Amino acid sequence: METYIMKTKRLGLRRWNDADLIPFSKINQDPRVMEYFPKLLSQQESEEMIKKIEEKTNENGFGLYAVDLLSKKEFIGFIGLSRPNFEASFTPCVEIGWRLAYQHWGKGLATEGAQACLAFAFNLLRIPEIVSFTAKENQRSIKVMEKLNMKKAGEFMHPNLPEDHSLRKHVLYKISREGR
Ligand SMILES: CC(C)(COP(=O)(O)OP(=O)(O)OC[C@H]1O[C@@H](n2cnc3c(N)ncnc32)[C@H](O)[C@@H]1OP(=O)(O)O)[C@@H](O)C(=O)NCCC(=O)NCCS
Repeated sequence: METYIMKTKRLGLRRWNDADLIPFSKINQDPRVMEYFPKLLSQQESEEMIKKIEEKTNENGFGLYAVDLLSKKEFIGFIGLSRPNFEASFTPCVEIGWRLAYQHWGKGLATEGAQACLAFAFNLLRIPEIVSFTAKENQRSIKVMEKLNMKKAGEFMHPNLPEDHSLRKHVLYKISREGR
């Protein structure tokens, strides 16, 4: 029996396991999924990312969770909370983020999982404010933020990308526990 941190109608959010590496690596090698990221990830980079996520989850008491489609017991990506590793006017903060396999897009799954994460963050962890950000061109992700009732709080240049990088311009969205 799988131990889920959160369950929604269609999704189970859980800690990562070894079997997630191959399907996660496929997601990170799909140019459609990675359109708004600087590059595709090798299998080794995906493995390192899972390790980092798990370490940060242990440290913070929350994290980016592996997502299963409950009907098929199939791993389809991640949704969850993290602390950004760069400095900006709005850090330190807690961010909500998502990445799903292409074949599962467009069915409301990211919004469904993220809604559960916001409830977890506000009601259980008592975090006062959650942010989200993405490249300005990433309309799909922005749509998810808007469906979560997050409000645009500004734009910024992502400090981890080179000055002339086309993806550097980001939008910042926020939602607070009080103003939900
Ligand atoms: C962003 C992502 C998680 C969304 O997953 P999803 O399960 O398809 O999201 P949802 O179905 O909950 O919502 C997507 C919304 O975007 C809309 N949408 C899809 N394509 C769009 C586009 N090109 N422009 C504007 N809106 C778009 C959908 O219609 C839907 O809104 P609706 O429910 O009102 O119709 C998924 O596309 C993904 O994994 N992308 C790659 C990773 C990524 O960019 N992550 C965020 C980086 S910070």
